[in-house]
Amino acid sequence: MQGDIQRVLIDRAAIAARLDALADRIVADLAAAEDAGDQPIELTLVPILTGSIIFVSDLIRRMPVKMKIRVMGVTSYPGATTASRGAAVVEALTHVPDDLSGHHVLVVDDILDSGRTLRLVTDTLRQRNPAELRTCVLLRKQIDSAMDFPVDYVAFDIPDQFVVGYGLDYDDYYRNLPEICTLKPEVSRAAP
Ligand code: IMP
Ligand code: MG
Repeated sequence: MQGDIQRVLIDRAAIAARLDALADRIVADLAAAEDAGDQPIELTLVPILTGSIIFVSDLIRRMPVKMKIRVMGVTSYPGATTASRGAAVVEALTHVPDDLSGHHVLVVDDILDSGRTLRLVTDTLRQRNPAELRTCVLLRKQIDSAMDFPVDYVAFDIPDQFVVGYGLDYDDYYRNLPEICTLKPEVSRAAP
């Protein structure tokens, strides 16, 4: 696995430091919303499977607030490709209540690229009437489709490169790499 890595884009220390700051900000925003509403917030975190698992597990351990976790499965890159082929909810992997009234929902995903995944997820969740719907991504690619998409929290903006590790995959491999890396071109060739 290590031999497939081209270079480390974001290392463990940088991820940890950024997550400290990001979690602090999310928690501060929640506290402010709670003060403004004068009642406790019912926070429901919605991690998007599978790519967000490492990010969300590290993020929530920095968030000392009461929350429920309701996962949502979305598939976008079937098989060995680096080209998005649209997004579809995987019902069998989704456990989000049909009615989110009164819930403050925070969607957490690994990466914002074309925006198809987050658009699908936010459109789907908005129909369930949440009191508040916010979005958080680990990575955002510096391309128009991603930069123009409204998202509340971004850990890192990265160049338009295919990356793996820290939850992100190529053909479902490399999610367990502890750093965010690019792959050698002979391992993954960007589809046209
Ligand atoms: P979007 O729907 O095009 O915004 O892409 C979002 C999804 O595509 C993410 O949740 C990832 O699963 C996948 N994806 C996009 N870019 C990358 C990448 O550079 N590496 C690995 N997966 C990616
Ligand atoms: Mg993926």
